Amino acid sequence: MNLMITGGAGFIGANLVLHWLQHHPDDLVINFDALTYAGNLENLAEVKNHPKYRFVLGDLRNPADISKTFSKYHVDAVIHLAAESHVDRSIYGPADFIETNISGTFNLLETARDYWKTDLSAHRFLHVSTDEVYGSLGSCGKFLETTPYAPNSPYSASKAASDHLVRAWHHTYKMNMLTTNCSNNYGPFQFPEKLLPLLINNCLQNLYIPVYGDGKNIRDWLFVKDHCEALDCVFHSGKSGETYNIGGGNEWSNIDIVRYVCKELDQRLGRSKENSCEKLITFVQDRPGHDLRYAIDASKIKTELNWTPRHTFGEGLSKTIEWYLGHQNWIKDITSGTYREYYELQYGGQNSDAV
Ligand code: NAD
Ligand code: TYD
Repeated sequence: MNLMITGGAGFIGANLVLHWLQHHPDDLVINFDALTYAGNLENLAEVKNHPKYRFVLGDLRNPADISKTFSKYHVDAVIHLAAESHVDRSIYGPADFIETNISGTFNLLETARDYWKTDLSAHRFLHVSTDEVYGSLGSCGKFLETTPYAPNSPYSASKAASDHLVRAWHHTYKMNMLTTNCSNNYGPFQFPEKLLPLLINNCLQNLYIPVYGDGKNIRDWLFVKDHCEALDCVFHSGKSGETYNIGGGNEWSNIDIVRYVCKELDQRLGRSKENSCEKLITFVQDRPGHDLRYAIDASKIKTELNWTPRHTFGEGLSKTIEWYLGHQNWIKDITSGTYREYYELQYGGQNSDAV
């Protein structure tokens, strides 16, 4: 099979490319990525000369890039991850989210429909989405696949729109589509604008740790390698036209997870109580429209496809922290340039030399 993975140079995409090459050695993996600020080919340095791996510098906003890739590599199936993915960026500038997440998905669907038209049902298209499309939960309940969509941020609205396109292309054109809605991921290669890598990086740099609002917002955290296994499982065993929620069953308030990671880092860095990373915690102005709580009910994928996460939070977090500690050059490279400008805009250049 010739599998096109979009967004393969990003966080989850890179983990998925590595997973696929390891577990499906007969498949050709075509990584289609525009290399935006979030895409980094260093993530895939170890496979750059792998005989079953190809990289295509292509933009979903340009239909010709997509159709050339389909023709050149005879694409048999797609796993679609490429997106603008950060909520805060979507608040500052929603246009890219509309163009990539909505128009880009439309371009990809139309190219696939045209290229596979003689045998649409034989070609799988897995669309990777987020639990944020369901909006915000109160203190109880969890998101089911049947929970009505209620996206609150420009990011989640653009992902919700792309989910609806996928649903319609299945329903109307009978394309062989699957959608997954996953909770917050953490692990190697995550860009340090998202909470956990930002927190680890800031502790290493003695920068303040910005916690939005009162820190009581809750997220359901899943180790990225477990997400990749779930995507593999849905791709191979999921039922066409269905959606599957993927989650870790692992809810943490932001302030609790921040304190927990600080403790883990103190131990590894040999920091005393007086110099604890916790001293860097700073409550800052809340994110506009900040969703209170996300939590996934993953019983459908568990009962129908027999998937459950293999890593406990302790295991996944240890692996993640070790990875960031061992890849400080990766962080240095990625935090230079445009990320610095965004950081200044988001956090107003606040700093701390408290430790
Ligand atoms: P990311 O921001 O780390 O990576 C996105 C990748 O897409 C980058 O490599 C970027 O270069 C590429 N890209 C962006 N615009 C493109 C375009 N126009 N054409 C081609 N490539 C483009 O994102 P991520 O965290 O790896 O998320 C991947 C997918 O998973 C997204 O669709 C996201 O909505 C979804 N998701 C993420 C999480 C999470 O916690 N990170 C949770 C659930 C779902
Ligand atoms: P984030 O990693 O941006 O993921 P998402 O918004 O998609 O859930 O944020 C996770 C949680 O952490 C979210 O409730 C916002 C909060 N947060 C902070 O408190 N401070 C920060 O600097 C960031 C980036 C996020």
